[in-house]
Amino acid sequence: MTIRAAKATAHPNIALAKYWGKRADGVNQPAVPSLSVTLAGMATTTTVAFDPALTEDTFLLGGAPADEIARGRVIKLLDRVRRAAGISARARVESGNDFPTASGLASSASGFSALALAALSAAGLDTDPTLVSDLARRISVSAARSAFGGFVELPVGSPGEGDLAAIPIAPPEHLALRVVVAVTREGPKAVGSTDGMEHTVRTSPYFPAWVASAPALCARVREAILRRDLEALGVAAEESALAMHATSIAARPGLLYWTGGTVEALEEVRRLRASGLLAYATIDAGPHVKVLTTPEDEPRVTAALAEVPGVKRTIVASPGEGARLLDRT
Ligand code: PMV
Repeated sequence: MTIRAAKATAHPNIALAKYWGKRADGVNQPAVPSLSVTLAGMATTTTVAFDPALTEDTFLLGGAPADEIARGRVIKLLDRVRRAAGISARARVESGNDFPTASGLASSASGFSALALAALSAAGLDTDPTLVSDLARRISVSAARSAFGGFVELPVGSPGEGDLAAIPIAPPEHLALRVVVAVTREGPKAVGSTDGMEHTVRTSPYFPAWVASAPALCARVREAILRRDLEALGVAAEESALAMHATSIAARPGLLYWTGGTVEALEEVRRLRASGLLAYATIDAGPHVKVLTTPEDEPRVTAALAEVPGVKRTIVASPGEGARLLDRT
């Protein structure tokens, strides 16, 4: 028996219309539609080798064995691929990020998207991006969007275990956008997104209002992107992020992902707008603020954010490509 291996790379993405909360009647199906931009400049690279000599799946992350929770999620994905391909060999999985995992950019999105593509390819299955997206979504919903480049929508899920893949709506070059990440704390976040959204769905009286308002917000984000209206995109994206955080803050007990630096950075974004620059904020399940701006305004936005007390450093990103294969043996 031979070893079958493949290597793939994928970028993180940042949601402009947020996903927050799974359907109660679905299997890893989102309760709301979301829309993101895939980011160039940072990547996860993952190798999967199905090896009949192995007795169990192994998973090295950044050169060291990953924790059991992460390994469990990888095995779940590999099991689906083995079932679809009719193979039983265990796999050696090696993954690495070329960006700091505590940068506030979701490494699970790039990670599971790269893993899905490498595993499908190594198993000799079809690697159409829609299949990569659906497979990645079953482990990490936001990872479905990193299968594609540019601006990517993930529709609301369906009851049960149906297929659900993201849909690319515009290529990276469609819109001249820059995302300035203001890192406000180093180290991992206190409450991960899976636990955070589960707690929000269960206890927040505002969750039904979030589910009711998210589709219209997502449609506004989509329409603004399609007509290249960065101002309208920024307004809708900032509303989506603040509404998502409002549902979590209203949970019992309240879930607050922000630090003082988050609020300082948000205030700076408002000051920048008042001074005539294009700057809108979005925040994921963590304390970092990501600022949407134009290539022209980016240097001044970055310089101003770097001066904010509580902002440790900044990273500038722009729209990038979807997951792709590097090697197959
Ligand atoms: O799919 P997860 O578990 O990585 O959750 C992602 C949640 C947010 O990043 C906060 C929003 C989003 O749509 O990416």
